[in-house]
Amino acid sequence: MTNFRGRDGLPNVGVVGATGLVGTMMTKLLAERDFPLDQLRLFASARSAGSTIRFRDRDVVVEDASTADFAGLDIVFFSAGGSTSKDLAPKVAAAGAIVIDNSSAWRSDPEVPLVVAEVNPKALRNIPKGIVANPNCTTMAAMPVLKPLHEAAGLKRLVVSTYQAVSGGGMEGVEVLRDQIVAGAEGCEALAMDGAGVDLGPVKKWAVPIAYNVVPLNYVLGEDGYTEEELKLRDESRKILDLPDLTVSGTCVRVPVFSGHALSINAEFERAISVNAALALLEDAPGVVVTEVPNPLDATGHDPVFVGRVRPDPTVANGLALFVVGDNLRKGAALNAVQVAEVLVAQKG
Ligand code: A2P
Repeated sequence: MTNFRGRDGLPNVGVVGATGLVGTMMTKLLAERDFPLDQLRLFASARSAGSTIRFRDRDVVVEDASTADFAGLDIVFFSAGGSTSKDLAPKVAAAGAIVIDNSSAWRSDPEVPLVVAEVNPKALRNIPKGIVANPNCTTMAAMPVLKPLHEAAGLKRLVVSTYQAVSGGGMEGVEVLRDQIVAGAEGCEALAMDGAGVDLGPVKKWAVPIAYNVVPLNYVLGEDGYTEEELKLRDESRKILDLPDLTVSGTCVRVPVFSGHALSINAEFERAISVNAALALLEDAPGVVVTEVPNPLDATGHDPVFVGRVRPDPTVANGLALFVVGDNLRKGAALNAVQVAEVLVAQKG
């Protein structure tokens, strides 16, 4: 292996946001996948500086990202929120690293490739800003499934409803659901009647309680009453599949599930595609497993995206309905970022 800055030409790797849910998963996956690297450096906010995180057989000291010197790094994963990425990623790229960013800060930039490793790795041949964007966790789950169907029949239109886990909202999301579940646990019968006397504690993170509930307003409203999350689903699907005219109507819903994002997808195609033909394609698709009852509990902790319930959609001429579930911290975030890094390493090799 040549060209990287570490010993024996191996890359020196950094993780910004290393103490968060996705950052923790990144470090875990680098070890699990035996990612070839020399030095690993971990960064977070000043709050965590000086703490240690175990990697392979040693403790790595967490550095304050705002004061750290990023020189000497080759690949730096970012998962510390959009504003940190917007501010810091160009500086890290200018210091010579390729940034693989998990936030939404760079995804719509035409000079930043938006990559799903199995779907459009060729986009990594040109990285003008030294930044690669990792798609939104919801869009990510759909792409490995839709790509082979699109190649066979020409994707035209998507109607998608999501069932998104709280871990997509970071550690805070997990804690809010846990606290509200505990607060309401004694009140299950009352919740089935009228909820009288049940106090789930303060409403945090989402507009209404997430425990014992579903929240169909996932973050901020944007164009035409669609939320930012729903617009990401549209815009990122268009960019990744290179389908600028794809029409997409999404309804993104947060549900009281800790991990594993699910999507109910109605897809319309240019040409006819039978359920059997679709299933045959999906059986062979990289990163996809066909299963009878795709569900978040089973998907969590696993790398592939699970798809099932494939059936005709009789409301349009060439339509399919299907259900997809993926681990939002793995394929939806950290795993794809590491897979992108693996493609970059292979390109240099
Ligand atoms: P810290 O733990 O020091 O706050 P999650 O999405 O799971 O909540 O994690 C967010 C991650 O981003 C954490 O590692 C957090 O570090 C990190 N982070 C938050 N703000 C900054 C910042 N300004 N600079 C660097 N890292 C940050």
